[in-house]
Amino acid sequence: MIAMLNNLDRGDMRRLSHTATGSVTARTAAETVGAAIERCARALMRAHVHFGHGTDNARDEAAELVFFAARLAHAQGSEAYATPLTPRRRARIDELLRRRIDERLPLAYLTHRAFFAGLTLYVDERVLVPRSPIAELILRRFAPWAPARAIRRILDVGTGSGAIALASAKAFPRARVDAVDISAAALAVCRRNIRRLGLSKRVTALRSDHFAAVEGRRYDIIVSNPPYVGRAEIAKLPREYAHEPALGLASGADGLDSVRAILSAARQHLEDDGILVVEVGNTEHTLMRAFPRLPFIWPMIEMGGGGVFILRAADLDRMGRESKARGG
Ligand SMILES: C[S@@+](CC[C@H](N)C(=O)[O-])C[C@H]1O[C@@H](n2cnc3c(N)ncnc32)[C@H](O)[C@@H]1O
Repeated sequence: MIAMLNNLDRGDMRRLSHTATGSVTARTAAETVGAAIERCARALMRAHVHFGHGTDNARDEAAELVFFAARLAHAQGSEAYATPLTPRRRARIDELLRRRIDERLPLAYLTHRAFFAGLTLYVDERVLVPRSPIAELILRRFAPWAPARAIRRILDVGTGSGAIALASAKAFPRARVDAVDISAAALAVCRRNIRRLGLSKRVTALRSDHFAAVEGRRYDIIVSNPPYVGRAEIAKLPREYAHEPALGLASGADGLDSVRAILSAARQHLEDDGILVVEVGNTEHTLMRAFPRLPFIWPMIEMGGGGVFILRAADLDRMGRESKARGG
């Protein structure tokens, strides 16, 4: 700092500013992108914000905040770190940081963008911030569980922003995808993303209570990240989650209402060699207790997260036979 003060010229002198405590600080050089990321990361940690809406740590979240405010592309990576910030960009960073901390808004609702399986999606508070570990399975084209033939029809139940439906359409270029949601507000966001990604010919958004609007249709893959948070757990969630639509999180007393509805009707909408892929998060153990005979497959997710099961149509057949035998 002393060296900087000694090197001040007359122009720099005009940039001297007084801090709130009355001391004098020299703004001899504009803050760089890298320095702003470090500063924001420290502020986020000090404020104990919750991470989990697209990033899982302060530095990644700070990088997204600064790159967004500075209109930089993440592809530039750390090469952009030496770039000095204009006062205008710095002011934008400070405003985003303030709202992220004071209002506990997930960053994606401030930037209106979320990254999912290589796609950039528009998001706002009408939809859950996409973050499902199913992204990794989609990028692996659900191998080795998906039928080893051309995939023609996919259904995404509870599509929200359309993240899973759109990523699936990209991964299976010959497939048609139905994206259903009970929320008309969420579907408006989903349709916006379908248009933005130019997938209107292959992805159709439909308002539907689970399978109600797709009566008689069969799919090669049914995929879903339904709401699965139980009543007691909802109250304990960090403040960030209160900004997300309740329909995207809450699902009855034990969190399994939606999953039960999907399990009971999925078979009649699956091809004989089709698969059902469902995220249940940490409701996994409750689910296994509720359905002890179902041979759930729990694939390893390398990018982290888990709680996603896969069932084959034949496994669901067995469930149907067992419940008939029990008089269900
Ligand atoms: C956990 S969010 C997932 C959103 C999106 N698939 C994702 O992964 O980001 C669950 C979604 O299911 C929708 N949903 C809740 N109940 C539903 C129902 N009975 N039928 C269809 N969709 C439902 C909610 O509106 C919400 O968009």
